[in-house]
Amino acid sequence: MARKGKRGAGAKKKRKPTMAERADRHLLYQKSVQDTGFEYDFVDSTFRKLTGRKAHHLREDFCGTAQMCCEWVSQRRTNHATGVDLDPEVLAWGQANNIARLKPGQQRRVQLLQQDVLRVATDPVDVVVAMNFSWQIFTERALLRRYFARVRRSLVEDGVFFLDIYGGYEAFKEMKERTKHRNFTYIWDQASYNPVNGHMQCYIHFSFPDGSRLRRAFSYYWRLWTLPELQEILREAGFKEVTVYWQGTDEKTGEANGVFEPATEGDADPAWICFVSARNG
Ligand SMILES: C[S@@+](CC[C@H](N)C(=O)[O-])C[C@H]1O[C@@H](n2cnc3c(N)ncnc32)[C@H](O)[C@@H]1O
Repeated sequence: MARKGKRGAGAKKKRKPTMAERADRHLLYQKSVQDTGFEYDFVDSTFRKLTGRKAHHLREDFCGTAQMCCEWVSQRRTNHATGVDLDPEVLAWGQANNIARLKPGQQRRVQLLQQDVLRVATDPVDVVVAMNFSWQIFTERALLRRYFARVRRSLVEDGVFFLDIYGGYEAFKEMKERTKHRNFTYIWDQASYNPVNGHMQCYIHFSFPDGSRLRRAFSYYWRLWTLPELQEILREAGFKEVTVYWQGTDEKTGEANGVFEPATEGDADPAWICFVSARNG
């Protein structure tokens, strides 16, 4: 039988929870992984360049905490967003922590759907986004093509699908990368890679100044697709114009400069991230 804590003389002082025990993994994820302000600017301005008009309705596939949906509706009064995710826990967190913080008028323009992106049926939207490489969970080519074809059918005639991809020779390595933040360290762990089928197990861990750790706060089992494969499969799924946006380099520092431009050639960098757009018509 479980014993209640001892009271009175000699009682042990209650242990103070560690920083890891007090941490909120979704908040840490948002702080270390997402930059929805940047993504908003990229998606909004690129859509305008591609179509000559403003986008209004966005669907965020694999939306998690729906941060991009919230960004979208807070930027323009005519903007509406639909977030789709399978996991009720992450959607509830997003509702309580992100959507609840929006103004009432903005909240009314967000809708969350607990559904599979392979099955969801939404009214035609201007933009679908699938960010942070979530689409890589489809490890078979036919299934990935099916997902892309469904995305295409959910877009208006001049609608655009935006997604991101990472690569470079370090992407295939089993390795950990640490990024220090205020009060925590984000650890990206490429734990295993199988060259025969391209499947990969990755984790996100967090560590804290008091020595505590949040191990495997997030786990991703996916296939590491390459950029040529991604473009081919988008075209096979019926997208008309597929564009890769490669990141420029700051001439002084030699580091990536955050400016993504259409490109047909890139550098053989050890690690890169880029955006891809695919036009419906
Ligand atoms: C890497 S998170 C992406 C979070 C966020 N969109 C971002 O940009 O950081 C992946 C999310 O995809 C969801 N997910 C996985 N398979 C899915 C599916 N078939 N349909 C809908 N959501 C799915 C998971 O529940 C998880 O919240």
